[in-house]
Amino acid sequence: MSVRAVLGCMYGDEAKAKMVDFLAEEADLVVRFQGGSNAGHTIKSAGKKYVLHLVPSGILYPEKKCVISSGVVVDPFALLEEMQILQKDGISFKGRFFIDPRAVVILPLHKNLDSRSETSLGKNKIGTTGKGIGPGYADAISRVGIRMGDLIYPEFLQARLIALADFHGLEIDIAELTAKLLTAGEQLKEYFIQVPYLLATAQEKGESILFEGAQGTLLDVVFGTYPYVTSSHVIAGGIGAGAGYNPRGIDEIVGVFKSYYTRVGSGPFPTELTDETGNWIRERGNEYGATTGRPRRCGWFDAVSSRYSVILNGIDSIALTLLDVLSGLDNINICTSYKIDGVITQEFPSHISQFGVLEPQYLELPGWQEDISEIKDFSELPANARHYVETIEKLLGVRVKYISVGAERMQTILREY
Ligand code: IMO
Ligand code: MG
Repeated sequence: MSVRAVLGCMYGDEAKAKMVDFLAEEADLVVRFQGGSNAGHTIKSAGKKYVLHLVPSGILYPEKKCVISSGVVVDPFALLEEMQILQKDGISFKGRFFIDPRAVVILPLHKNLDSRSETSLGKNKIGTTGKGIGPGYADAISRVGIRMGDLIYPEFLQARLIALADFHGLEIDIAELTAKLLTAGEQLKEYFIQVPYLLATAQEKGESILFEGAQGTLLDVVFGTYPYVTSSHVIAGGIGAGAGYNPRGIDEIVGVFKSYYTRVGSGPFPTELTDETGNWIRERGNEYGATTGRPRRCGWFDAVSSRYSVILNGIDSIALTLLDVLSGLDNINICTSYKIDGVITQEFPSHISQFGVLEPQYLELPGWQEDISEIKDFSELPANARHYVETIEKLLGVRVKYISVGAERMQTILREY
Protein backbone atom coordinates (compact mmCIF):
# COMPACT_ATOMS: atom_id res chain seq x y z
CA MET A 1 0.00 0.00 0.00
CA SER A 2 1.52 3.29 -1.06
CA VAL A 3 0.95 6.44 -3.00
CA ARG A 4 3.52 7.01 -5.66
CA ALA A 5 4.17 9.58 -8.36
CA VAL A 6 6.09 8.76 -11.53
CA LEU A 7 7.33 11.95 -13.14
CA GLY A 8 9.31 12.90 -16.22
CA CYS A 9 12.35 14.92 -15.20
CA MET A 10 13.72 16.07 -18.56
CA TYR A 11 12.03 17.50 -21.68
CA GLY A 12 9.44 14.71 -21.89
CA ASP A 13 9.76 11.32 -23.55
CA GLU A 14 11.71 9.78 -20.67
CA ALA A 15 9.97 6.41 -21.17
CA LYS A 16 7.65 7.23 -18.29
CA ALA A 17 4.89 4.97 -19.62
CA LYS A 18 7.15 1.94 -19.52
CA MET A 19 7.91 2.70 -15.87
CA VAL A 20 4.26 3.42 -15.04
CA ASP A 21 3.31 0.13 -16.67
CA PHE A 22 6.02 -1.64 -14.65
CA LEU A 23 5.06 -0.02 -11.33
CA ALA A 24 1.31 -0.22 -11.96
CA GLU A 25 1.43 -3.88 -11.02
CA GLU A 26 1.38 -2.76 -7.37
CA ALA A 27 -1.20 0.01 -7.88
CA ASP A 28 -4.97 -0.01 -7.59
CA LEU A 29 -5.43 3.32 -9.34
CA VAL A 30 -3.40 5.08 -12.05
CA VAL A 31 -4.13 8.81 -12.26
CA ARG A 32 -3.23 11.43 -14.86
CA PHE A 33 -3.14 14.94 -13.33
CA GLN A 34 -2.02 17.28 -16.14
CA GLY A 35 -1.39 17.57 -19.85
CA GLY A 36 -3.58 16.19 -22.59
CA SER A 37 -3.15 14.39 -25.85
CA ASN A 38 0.19 16.15 -26.36
CA ALA A 39 1.54 13.19 -24.38
CA GLY A 40 2.65 10.15 -26.37
CA HIS A 41 3.04 7.20 -24.04
CA THR A 42 4.38 4.05 -25.65
CA ILE A 43 4.03 0.69 -23.94
CA LYS A 44 5.12 -2.67 -25.27
CA SER A 45 3.20 -5.52 -23.79
CA ALA A 46 3.54 -9.15 -24.87
CA GLY A 47 5.19 -8.03 -28.10
CA LYS A 48 2.39 -5.60 -28.95
CA LYS A 49 2.93 -1.84 -29.06
CA TYR A 50 0.38 0.62 -27.63
CA VAL A 51 0.61 4.39 -27.94
CA LEU A 52 -1.53 6.20 -25.37
CA HIS A 53 -2.23 9.92 -25.32
CA LEU A 54 -5.01 10.52 -22.81
CA VAL A 55 -5.76 7.13 -21.32
CA PRO A 56 -3.59 6.38 -18.24
CA SER A 57 -0.86 3.79 -18.73
CA GLY A 58 -2.45 1.37 -16.24
CA ILE A 59 -5.13 0.45 -18.78
CA LEU A 60 -3.31 -2.65 -20.04
CA TYR A 61 -3.91 -4.37 -16.70
CA PRO A 62 -7.51 -5.62 -16.72
CA GLU A 63 -8.36 -4.68 -13.14
CA LYS A 64 -6.68 -1.30 -12.48
CA LYS A 65 -8.76 1.82 -12.09
CA CYS A 66 -7.62 4.50 -14.54
CA VAL A 67 -8.41 8.11 -13.82
CA ILE A 68 -8.40 11.35 -15.79
CA SER A 69 -8.52 14.04 -13.13
CA SER A 70 -9.49 17.69 -13.37
CA GLY A 71 -6.03 19.00 -14.29
CA VAL A 72 -6.05 17.15 -17.61
CA VAL A 73 -7.26 18.84 -20.79
CA VAL A 74 -9.44 16.41 -22.72
CA ASP A 75 -10.24 16.38 -26.41
CA PRO A 76 -13.39 14.24 -26.12
CA PHE A 77 -13.26 13.12 -29.75
CA ALA A 78 -9.61 12.08 -29.48
CA LEU A 79 -10.41 10.28 -26.23
CA LEU A 80 -13.29 8.30 -27.76
CA GLU A 81 -11.10 7.33 -30.69
CA GLU A 82 -8.30 6.18 -28.39
CA MET A 83 -10.77 4.19 -26.30
CA GLN A 84 -12.20 2.51 -29.41
CA ILE A 85 -8.76 1.37 -30.55
CA LEU A 86 -8.09 -0.15 -27.13
CA GLN A 87 -11.57 -1.69 -26.90
CA LYS A 88 -11.00 -3.42 -30.24
CA ASP A 89 -8.06 -5.11 -28.55
CA GLY A 90 -10.35 -6.42 -25.83
CA ILE A 91 -9.47 -3.77 -23.25
CA SER A 92 -12.49 -2.88 -21.14
CA PHE A 93 -13.25 0.52 -19.60
CA LYS A 94 -16.50 -0.33 -17.86
CA GLY A 95 -16.51 0.40 -14.14
CA ARG A 96 -12.80 1.14 -13.95
CA PHE A 97 -12.25 4.22 -16.05
CA PHE A 98 -13.08 7.62 -14.57
CA ILE A 99 -13.13 11.23 -15.69
CA ASP A 100 -13.55 14.24 -13.43
CA PRO A 101 -16.32 16.50 -14.82
CA ARG A 102 -14.05 19.45 -14.02
CA ALA A 103 -11.51 18.44 -16.68
CA VAL A 104 -11.28 21.09 -19.38
CA VAL A 105 -12.39 20.32 -22.93
CA ILE A 106 -10.11 20.86 -25.91
CA LEU A 107 -12.15 21.92 -28.93
CA PRO A 108 -11.26 22.06 -32.63
CA LEU A 109 -10.96 25.84 -32.24
CA HIS A 110 -8.12 25.32 -29.75
CA LYS A 111 -6.15 23.39 -32.32
CA ASN A 112 -6.73 26.21 -34.81
CA LEU A 113 -5.60 28.79 -32.27
CA ASP A 114 -2.55 26.64 -31.49
CA SER A 115 -1.45 26.50 -35.13
CA ARG A 116 -2.28 30.16 -35.68
CA SER A 117 -0.08 31.24 -32.78
CA GLU A 118 2.74 29.00 -34.01
CA THR A 119 2.50 30.60 -37.46
CA SER A 120 2.55 34.10 -36.02
CA LEU A 121 5.63 33.28 -33.91
CA GLY A 122 7.45 32.30 -37.12
CA LYS A 123 11.03 31.28 -36.43
CA ASN A 124 10.40 31.67 -32.70
CA LYS A 125 7.62 29.08 -32.71
CA ILE A 126 7.41 26.75 -29.71
CA GLY A 127 7.18 23.64 -31.84
CA THR A 128 4.00 22.51 -30.09
CA THR A 129 2.35 19.17 -30.74
CA GLY A 130 -0.54 21.07 -32.35
CA LYS A 131 -3.08 19.50 -29.99
CA GLY A 132 -4.51 22.79 -28.75
CA ILE A 133 -3.01 22.44 -25.27
CA GLY A 134 -1.90 26.05 -24.67
CA PRO A 135 -5.14 27.70 -25.88
CA GLY A 136 -7.20 25.12 -23.95
CA TYR A 137 -5.48 25.83 -20.63
CA ALA A 138 -5.57 29.57 -21.35
CA ASP A 139 -9.35 29.46 -21.76
CA ALA A 140 -9.69 27.52 -18.52
CA ILE A 141 -7.69 30.15 -16.64
CA SER A 142 -9.64 32.93 -18.37
CA ARG A 143 -12.83 31.29 -17.05
CA VAL A 144 -14.32 30.85 -20.51
CA GLY A 145 -13.41 27.17 -20.82
CA ILE A 146 -15.80 24.31 -21.49
CA ARG A 147 -15.53 21.48 -18.97
CA MET A 148 -16.32 17.81 -19.43
CA GLY A 149 -19.28 18.11 -17.06
CA ASP A 150 -20.85 20.69 -19.42
CA LEU A 151 -21.33 18.01 -22.07
CA ILE A 152 -24.50 16.73 -20.42
CA TYR A 153 -26.23 20.11 -20.03
CA PRO A 154 -27.41 21.12 -23.56
CA GLU A 155 -28.53 24.68 -22.82
CA PHE A 156 -25.65 25.50 -20.54
CA LEU A 157 -23.19 24.07 -23.07
CA GLN A 158 -24.63 26.05 -25.96
CA ALA A 159 -24.54 29.29 -23.98
CA ARG A 160 -20.93 28.66 -22.96
CA LEU A 161 -19.93 27.93 -26.55
CA ILE A 162 -21.55 31.15 -27.75
CA ALA A 163 -19.67 33.07 -25.07
CA LEU A 164 -16.41 31.33 -25.95
CA ALA A 165 -16.73 32.05 -29.67
CA ASP A 166 -17.49 35.66 -28.76
CA PHE A 167 -14.47 35.84 -26.46
CA HIS A 168 -12.22 34.82 -29.34
CA GLY A 169 -14.13 36.78 -31.99
CA LEU A 170 -14.66 33.55 -33.92
CA GLU A 171 -17.51 32.55 -36.22
CA ILE A 172 -18.25 28.91 -35.53
CA ASP A 173 -21.24 26.67 -36.17
CA ILE A 174 -22.47 26.54 -32.59
CA ALA A 175 -25.38 24.20 -33.27
CA GLU A 176 -23.19 21.63 -34.97
CA LEU A 177 -20.48 21.77 -32.31
CA THR A 178 -23.04 21.58 -29.51
CA ALA A 179 -24.60 18.51 -31.08
CA LYS A 180 -21.26 16.76 -31.53
CA LEU A 181 -20.20 17.52 -27.96
CA LEU A 182 -23.51 16.31 -26.57
CA THR A 183 -23.09 13.03 -28.44
CA ALA A 184 -19.59 12.66 -26.98
CA GLY A 185 -20.98 13.52 -23.54
CA GLU A 186 -23.65 10.85 -23.94
CA GLN A 187 -20.90 8.27 -24.56
CA LEU A 188 -18.60 9.47 -21.78
CA LYS A 189 -20.96 10.38 -18.95
CA GLU A 190 -20.94 6.88 -17.46
CA TYR A 191 -17.27 7.50 -16.56
CA PHE A 192 -17.84 10.81 -14.76
CA ILE A 193 -16.90 10.77 -11.10
CA GLN A 194 -15.78 13.28 -8.50
CA VAL A 195 -12.10 12.36 -8.47
CA PRO A 196 -11.24 14.10 -5.15
CA TYR A 197 -13.69 11.77 -3.35
CA LEU A 198 -12.54 8.76 -5.35
CA LEU A 199 -8.94 9.42 -4.29
CA ALA A 200 -9.80 10.21 -0.66
CA THR A 201 -11.78 6.98 -0.39
CA ALA A 202 -8.95 4.99 -1.97
CA GLN A 203 -6.53 6.57 0.49
CA GLU A 204 -8.79 5.75 3.45
CA LYS A 205 -9.05 2.15 2.33
CA GLY A 206 -5.27 1.92 2.03
CA GLU A 207 -5.31 1.36 -1.71
CA SER A 208 -2.25 2.12 -3.80
CA ILE A 209 -2.39 5.15 -6.05
CA LEU A 210 0.04 5.92 -8.84
CA PHE A 211 0.11 9.44 -10.25
CA GLU A 212 1.31 9.37 -13.84
CA GLY A 213 3.13 12.46 -15.09
CA ALA A 214 3.11 13.59 -18.69
CA GLN A 215 5.78 15.80 -20.33
CA GLY A 216 8.80 16.58 -18.14
CA THR A 217 9.99 19.08 -15.53
CA LEU A 218 12.01 21.16 -17.99
CA LEU A 219 8.77 21.75 -19.93
CA ASP A 220 6.90 22.97 -16.81
CA VAL A 221 4.97 26.17 -17.53
CA VAL A 222 6.83 28.07 -14.79
CA PHE A 223 10.08 26.24 -14.11
CA GLY A 224 10.85 25.05 -17.63
CA THR A 225 12.67 26.88 -20.42
CA TYR A 226 9.93 29.50 -20.76
CA PRO A 227 8.44 30.31 -23.26
CA TYR A 228 9.50 26.96 -24.80
CA VAL A 229 7.35 24.96 -22.42
CA THR A 230 4.02 23.20 -22.26
CA SER A 231 1.11 24.93 -20.55
CA SER A 232 0.68 22.84 -17.41
CA HIS A 233 2.32 22.27 -14.04
CA VAL A 234 4.34 19.17 -14.75
CA ILE A 235 6.21 19.04 -11.44
CA ALA A 236 5.15 17.09 -8.34
CA GLY A 237 3.51 20.23 -6.98
CA GLY A 238 1.04 19.97 -9.85
CA ILE A 239 -0.47 16.78 -8.43
CA GLY A 240 -2.36 18.45 -5.60
CA ALA A 241 -4.02 21.11 -7.73
CA GLY A 242 -4.34 18.90 -10.80
CA ALA A 243 -5.95 15.85 -9.27
CA GLY A 244 -7.60 17.40 -6.22
CA TYR A 245 -5.43 15.42 -3.85
CA ASN A 246 -3.86 16.52 -0.58
CA PRO A 247 -0.13 17.17 -0.94
CA ARG A 248 0.71 15.30 2.28
CA GLY A 249 -0.45 11.98 0.93
CA ILE A 250 2.40 10.98 -1.37
CA ASP A 251 4.88 8.36 -0.14
CA GLU A 252 7.35 8.06 -2.99
CA ILE A 253 8.23 10.30 -5.91
CA VAL A 254 9.98 8.42 -8.69
CA GLY A 255 11.86 10.60 -11.15
CA VAL A 256 12.21 9.14 -14.62
CA PHE A 257 15.42 10.06 -16.43
CA LYS A 258 16.65 8.77 -19.73
CA SER A 259 20.29 7.66 -19.84
CA TYR A 260 20.90 10.46 -22.35
CA TYR A 261 18.89 13.58 -23.15
CA THR A 262 16.35 14.29 -25.87
CA ARG A 263 14.10 17.17 -26.74
CA VAL A 264 11.41 17.50 -29.39
CA GLY A 265 10.23 20.92 -30.52
CA SER A 266 12.14 24.19 -30.21
CA GLY A 267 13.94 25.66 -27.24
CA PRO A 268 17.25 25.45 -25.42
CA PHE A 269 19.04 22.12 -25.08
CA PRO A 270 22.52 22.70 -23.58
CA THR A 271 23.93 19.21 -24.21
CA GLU A 272 22.47 18.71 -27.70
CA LEU A 273 24.64 16.76 -30.13
CA THR A 274 24.19 17.88 -33.72
CA ASP A 275 26.89 15.48 -34.96
CA GLU A 276 27.17 11.78 -35.85
CA THR A 277 26.89 10.72 -32.21
CA GLY A 278 23.54 12.52 -31.94
CA ASN A 279 22.31 10.74 -35.07
CA TRP A 280 23.63 7.42 -33.75
CA ILE A 281 21.69 7.83 -30.49
CA ARG A 282 18.52 8.81 -32.40
CA GLU A 283 18.62 5.69 -34.56
CA ARG A 284 19.59 3.30 -31.77
CA GLY A 285 17.04 4.76 -29.38
CA ASN A 286 14.37 5.14 -32.09
CA GLU A 287 14.02 8.73 -30.97
CA TYR A 288 11.04 9.82 -33.03
CA GLY A 289 7.99 11.48 -31.43
CA ALA A 290 5.14 9.15 -30.52
CA THR A 291 2.57 11.93 -31.00
CA THR A 292 3.95 13.84 -33.99
CA GLY A 293 6.57 11.50 -35.50
CA ARG A 294 9.14 14.32 -35.37
CA PRO A 295 12.81 13.29 -34.98
CA ARG A 296 13.93 14.07 -31.45
CA ARG A 297 17.04 16.12 -30.79
CA CYS A 298 19.54 13.98 -28.87
CA GLY A 299 22.41 14.79 -26.51
CA TRP A 300 24.45 13.85 -23.44
CA PHE A 301 23.08 13.43 -19.94
CA ASP A 302 22.85 16.84 -18.29
CA ALA A 303 23.39 16.55 -14.53
CA VAL A 304 22.79 20.29 -14.02
CA SER A 305 19.21 20.34 -15.33
CA SER A 306 18.64 16.89 -13.80
CA ARG A 307 19.67 18.13 -10.36
CA TYR A 308 17.25 21.05 -10.85
CA SER A 309 14.47 18.51 -11.50
CA VAL A 310 15.43 16.54 -8.39
CA ILE A 311 15.11 19.69 -6.29
CA LEU A 312 11.82 20.85 -7.83
CA ASN A 313 10.11 17.48 -7.45
CA GLY A 314 11.66 16.10 -4.27
CA ILE A 315 12.70 12.94 -6.08
CA ASP A 316 13.07 9.92 -3.76
CA SER A 317 14.33 7.45 -6.31
CA ILE A 318 15.36 7.47 -9.93
CA ALA A 319 14.24 5.27 -12.77
CA LEU A 320 17.02 5.40 -15.37
CA THR A 321 15.70 4.30 -18.75
CA LEU A 322 17.10 3.26 -22.13
CA LEU A 323 20.51 2.39 -20.73
CA ASP A 324 20.76 -0.34 -23.38
CA VAL A 325 20.82 2.33 -26.10
CA LEU A 326 24.26 3.53 -24.99
CA SER A 327 25.98 0.15 -25.55
CA GLY A 328 28.60 0.59 -28.25
CA LEU A 329 29.98 4.03 -27.47
CA ASP A 330 33.72 4.39 -26.70
CA ASN A 331 33.14 7.29 -24.36
CA ILE A 332 30.08 8.82 -22.76
CA ASN A 333 29.90 12.40 -21.51
CA ILE A 334 27.97 13.81 -18.59
CA CYS A 335 27.51 17.55 -18.22
CA THR A 336 28.42 18.53 -14.66
CA SER A 337 28.28 22.33 -14.84
CA TYR A 338 27.57 25.23 -17.19
CA LYS A 339 29.86 28.09 -18.10
CA ILE A 340 27.78 31.22 -18.65
CA ASP A 341 29.60 34.41 -19.62
CA GLY A 342 32.82 32.85 -18.36
CA VAL A 343 31.34 31.94 -14.96
CA ILE A 344 30.97 28.31 -13.89
CA THR A 345 27.59 27.54 -12.39
CA GLN A 346 25.55 24.54 -11.32
CA GLU A 347 22.26 26.38 -11.57
CA PHE A 348 19.80 25.95 -14.41
CA PRO A 349 19.21 29.41 -15.93
CA SER A 350 16.00 31.29 -15.10
CA HIS A 351 16.10 33.33 -18.30
CA ILE A 352 16.01 32.06 -21.84
CA SER A 353 18.72 34.46 -23.06
CA GLN A 354 21.31 32.85 -20.77
CA PHE A 355 21.13 29.63 -22.76
CA GLY A 356 22.52 31.35 -25.84
CA VAL A 357 25.87 31.96 -24.16
CA LEU A 358 25.98 28.70 -22.21
CA GLU A 359 28.87 26.24 -22.59
CA PRO A 360 28.33 22.81 -21.00
CA GLN A 361 31.28 21.39 -19.05
CA TYR A 362 31.72 17.64 -19.40
CA LEU A 363 33.01 14.70 -17.45
CA GLU A 364 34.12 11.94 -19.84
CA LEU A 365 33.43 8.34 -18.84
CA PRO A 366 34.45 5.12 -20.59
CA GLY A 367 31.64 3.35 -22.48
CA TRP A 368 30.82 -0.35 -22.81
CA GLN A 369 30.20 -2.55 -25.84
CA GLU A 370 28.09 -5.41 -24.48
CA ASP A 371 24.39 -5.88 -25.20
CA ILE A 372 22.75 -5.39 -21.79
CA SER A 373 19.10 -5.76 -22.81
CA GLU A 374 18.64 -9.19 -21.16
CA ILE A 375 20.41 -8.38 -17.90
CA LYS A 376 18.25 -8.77 -14.79
CA ASP A 377 20.68 -7.91 -12.03
CA PHE A 378 22.74 -4.77 -11.46
CA SER A 379 25.87 -6.76 -10.61
CA GLU A 380 25.80 -8.38 -14.06
CA LEU A 381 26.09 -5.09 -15.92
CA PRO A 382 29.49 -4.28 -17.46
CA ALA A 383 31.68 -2.41 -14.95
CA ASN A 384 31.61 0.75 -17.06
CA ALA A 385 27.81 0.72 -17.20
CA ARG A 386 27.63 0.36 -13.43
CA HIS A 387 30.13 3.19 -13.09
CA TYR A 388 27.99 5.37 -15.37
CA VAL A 389 24.88 4.70 -13.27
CA GLU A 390 26.75 5.30 -10.00
CA THR A 391 28.17 8.56 -11.33
CA ILE A 392 24.68 9.84 -12.12
CA GLU A 393 23.56 8.72 -8.68
CA LYS A 394 26.40 10.66 -7.04
CA LEU A 395 25.88 13.78 -9.12
CA LEU A 396 22.15 13.88 -8.39
CA GLY A 397 22.36 12.69 -4.79
CA VAL A 398 19.50 10.24 -5.30
CA ARG A 399 19.55 6.46 -5.60
CA VAL A 400 18.90 4.87 -8.97
CA LYS A 401 16.36 2.23 -7.98
CA TYR A 402 15.14 1.07 -11.38
CA ILE A 403 17.12 0.64 -14.59
CA SER A 404 15.31 -0.03 -17.83
CA VAL A 405 17.24 -1.97 -20.47
CA GLY A 406 14.43 -2.55 -22.98
CA ALA A 407 10.84 -1.68 -23.82
CA GLU A 408 9.20 -4.78 -22.33
CA ARG A 409 7.88 -4.71 -18.76
CA MET A 410 10.33 -7.38 -17.65
CA GLN A 411 13.39 -5.65 -19.09
CA THR A 412 13.79 -3.74 -15.86
CA ILE A 413 16.50 -4.09 -13.24
CA LEU A 414 15.23 -3.49 -9.72
CA ARG A 415 18.08 -2.58 -7.42
CA GLU A 416 17.80 -3.80 -3.86
CA TYR A 417 19.36 -1.84 -1.08
P1 IMO B 1 5.27 12.99 -23.11
O1 IMO B 1 4.22 12.85 -22.04
C1 IMO B 1 7.94 15.54 -25.34
C2 IMO B 1 6.64 19.67 -26.06
C3 IMO B 1 6.37 20.06 -27.49
C4 IMO B 1 6.72 21.53 -27.45
C5 IMO B 1 6.22 21.96 -26.07
C6 IMO B 1 4.85 22.59 -26.08
O2 IMO B 1 5.17 11.99 -24.20
O3 IMO B 1 6.63 13.05 -22.51
P2 IMO B 1 2.40 21.58 -26.37
O4 IMO B 1 1.78 20.83 -27.49
O5 IMO B 1 2.41 20.84 -25.07
O6 IMO B 1 1.85 22.97 -26.22
O7 IMO B 1 3.94 21.78 -26.82
O8 IMO B 1 6.20 20.79 -25.28
N1 IMO B 1 5.90 18.47 -25.59
C7 IMO B 1 6.44 17.27 -25.41
N2 IMO B 1 7.69 16.82 -25.67
N3 IMO B 1 7.05 14.71 -24.79
C8 IMO B 1 5.80 15.14 -24.51
O9 IMO B 1 4.92 14.39 -23.82
C9 IMO B 1 5.44 16.46 -24.86
N4 IMO B 1 4.31 17.18 -24.75
C10 IMO B 1 4.61 18.42 -25.20
O10 IMO B 1 7.20 19.35 -28.38
O11 IMO B 1 8.13 21.70 -27.46
MG1 MG C 1 6.26 10.75 -25.31
